[in-house]
Amino acid sequence: MELSEKVILLTGASGGIGKPILEHLNKNVKVLIGSGRKNLQDFTRIKEDEKFNYMPMDLNSEDNLKFLFSYIIEEYGRLDVMINTIGGSLYSHTIEDFPIEEYDKVIDTNLKTAFMLTKESIKYMKRNGDQGGSILHFVSSSSKDVSHNKAPYGIAKAGLEALIRYSASEAAKYNIKVNGISPTYVFTERHEKEIEVQSRRTNRSVAEIEEKIMEGQILKRKLYPKDIFPLVDLLIQTEVITGKIYDCTLGKT
Ligand SMILES: NC(=O)c1ccc[n+]([C@@H]2O[C@H](COP(=O)([O-])OP(=O)(O)OC[C@H]3O[C@@H](n4cnc5c(N)ncnc54)[C@H](OP(=O)(O)O)[C@@H]3O)[C@@H](O)[C@H]2O)c1
Repeated sequence: MELSEKVILLTGASGGIGKPILEHLNKNVKVLIGSGRKNLQDFTRIKEDEKFNYMPMDLNSEDNLKFLFSYIIEEYGRLDVMINTIGGSLYSHTIEDFPIEEYDKVIDTNLKTAFMLTKESIKYMKRNGDQGGSILHFVSSSSKDVSHNKAPYGIAKAGLEALIRYSASEAAKYNIKVNGISPTYVFTERHEKEIEVQSRRTNRSVAEIEEKIMEGQILKRKLYPKDIFPLVDLLIQTEVITGKIYDCTLGKT
């Protein structure tokens, strides 16, 4: 099945990585449904496009999530690809200082939502018969590396890696492929702004901060959302790769 015939759900579509993926895919697919919490004010151009639909909602809620999937099936008849970019470290504390309600939020956002999205995706994609489907999650290098004061995030992303392997194994009989992309620091618009703020606050140059971020990378260049597009394209179309997590870390080990 060609990409141009596929119905695709992209979660986190208002985010630093999700939004560029949305713009990238929108040109090439049959129907693209984007979802984030906030509305996409600046997306009128895409909104006018018949094959694009944007559904703002909180997907930590199982009711909302179930509604989203049943709406897609009712409106478009099928779901072929689910790309999940919901996530984030949200808070920074040592383990001993981490409030448990903040821990829960990090786990809900990065892992529970991914579990529920995978569950609903399998439920509907198995209706596609031999054509199956593709599920793609965004993991993080923090699942393996220790990110300062971000233990719940690392724990959630490590859990997400397990979810990818388990769901790939269970859903293979329906020809549903489940994979992950695990990037290091991505220079999203939000991150670039945060670096500027940090530079003013700490009296360090932007270049100095960026150099520190890129420490350990073999390729000394910034990773942008668009650099990840080829991997996204591959993993939403592959018929032979499943249960794999692709590092996108510019050679950082
Ligand atoms: N950026 C990086 O350097 C980096 C590195 C490694 C891995 N990652 C992973 O890549 C993914 C995307 O990162 P990003 O930088 O694009 O993050 P981001 O800019 O913070 O975007 C996160 C997206 O998830 C949505 N979201 C969060 N909680 C939600 C909820 N409860 N219900 C519905 N939508 C929700 C946000 O919606 P609203 O904005 O509308 O609230 C937003 O669209 C994440 O999984 C992240 O962990 C990022």
